[in-house]
Amino acid sequence: MGEQAKLSVGGKDIAYPVLSGSIGPDVVDIRKLYGDTGLFTYDPGFTSTAACESAITFIDGEEGVLLHRGYPIGQLAEHSSFMETCYLLLNGELPGKDELTSFTTTISRHTMVHEQLRQLYQGFRRDAHPMAIMCGVVGALSAFYHDSTDIADPEHRKISSHRLIAKMPTIAAMAYKYSVGQPFMHPDNSLSYTGNFMQMTFGVPAEKYELHPAVEKAMDRIFILHADHEQNASTSTVRLAGSSGANPFACIAAGIACLWGPAHGGANEAALNMLREIGTVDRIPHYIERAKDKNDPFRLMGFGHRVYKNYDPRAAVMQKTVREVFDALKVKDPVFDVALELEHMALNDPYFIDKKLFPNVDFYSGIILSAIGFPTTMFTALFALARTVGWVAQWNEMISDPYQKIGRPRQLYTGAPERDYVPVAKR
Ligand code: ACO
Repeated sequence: MGEQAKLSVGGKDIAYPVLSGSIGPDVVDIRKLYGDTGLFTYDPGFTSTAACESAITFIDGEEGVLLHRGYPIGQLAEHSSFMETCYLLLNGELPGKDELTSFTTTISRHTMVHEQLRQLYQGFRRDAHPMAIMCGVVGALSAFYHDSTDIADPEHRKISSHRLIAKMPTIAAMAYKYSVGQPFMHPDNSLSYTGNFMQMTFGVPAEKYELHPAVEKAMDRIFILHADHEQNASTSTVRLAGSSGANPFACIAAGIACLWGPAHGGANEAALNMLREIGTVDRIPHYIERAKDKNDPFRLMGFGHRVYKNYDPRAAVMQKTVREVFDALKVKDPVFDVALELEHMALNDPYFIDKKLFPNVDFYSGIILSAIGFPTTMFTALFALARTVGWVAQWNEMISDPYQKIGRPRQLYTGAPERDYVPVAKR
């Protein structure tokens, strides 16, 4: 018998099995706890809870390690492409040459959206946030693709996954076009996944769109860096929504809603807004003091992470990519100097050292996206586009898991005990 964790409660000693994964912390299997003791565990925010078994992504937050199917994120960002990383996340192995070509072709053949879906956009205000549009339009996909929603059929799940990955750039680009009052651009299958998204976003029918290869590469890399991140809030949302057997497009819409929050994907927008507000290096100390002040709700956006207690490996690649994009476009942005100095000052400040607060993926990404020409409101939509593959890979894994059950947490009830109803005239 393997290792066991012993619990003494109510005069009883009970042992629970300790399960080991391939790497990472072991877990105490407490599935029988309630039946044995009548007790629940209490862990708001899931800080000590493994909600599922997964073979997709591994994070060692203490060491700053992120692996997709075992491959370090730095290697994927350097040598892989977003399409290849998508294949890896979905299938578990890197594709051979023919497999990659076939996968890329399949995705490109699903990039168009139903013509009627285009009309849906007209119902939104022009100043709607792109994430509001994404929530609505992606949810609406469930009303269009009825031929692939038998989630018990692996082939149906595959088609839905491909559709989601393929249509997300089209939907995000259309959200942008709608906000600036330009015509929607059709996908062009002669372009790469990322090149196509850029063409649909920044191209216009009146002239040929030219994309700098360094910008295309940088965007592709940004997509790789956001592709998956284990059981984060939005992924857990997708899993929870999917655990009831809900429609896959609706589940991804739920993930988009969760990602929007400033503590999660919304932080890239908030981080750039914060850096612009700081404006100049001499104003940084004031903002650092505010971030440290318990009576001030201000936090350094793009700093800190639930899992990373070390430098987020994605932030390191992002910082390098800022320089590449600036060189390629021959631009500079003083906000980058503010970011570098802010990072330097925070990493030498005992508050941030003691709490192990480091830049996360969102700290530098906004600077790149802004240099490329995206408005801040599009940042989180780009994150959603890239994270879709992670969401569908995790959703697929959950549906095929024989131990999968509907997600149903319990609670520590602190409300009124049972009491009798009093008619309004007597209250
Ligand atoms: N600035 C200042 N102080 C911070 C920051 C920050 N960015 N982040 C955490 N802290 C402090 C907290 O005040 C808290 O201090 P205390 O122990 O004295 O109360 C301590 O560090 C721990 O913070 P928690 O909020 O308890 O940590 P948690 O794991 O719940 O939160 C989170 C992680 C939400 C990412 C947090 O660090 C944060 O709000 N960061 C800013 C937003 C951000 O960048 N989010 C993006 C995350 S990455 C992503 O989703 C892609």
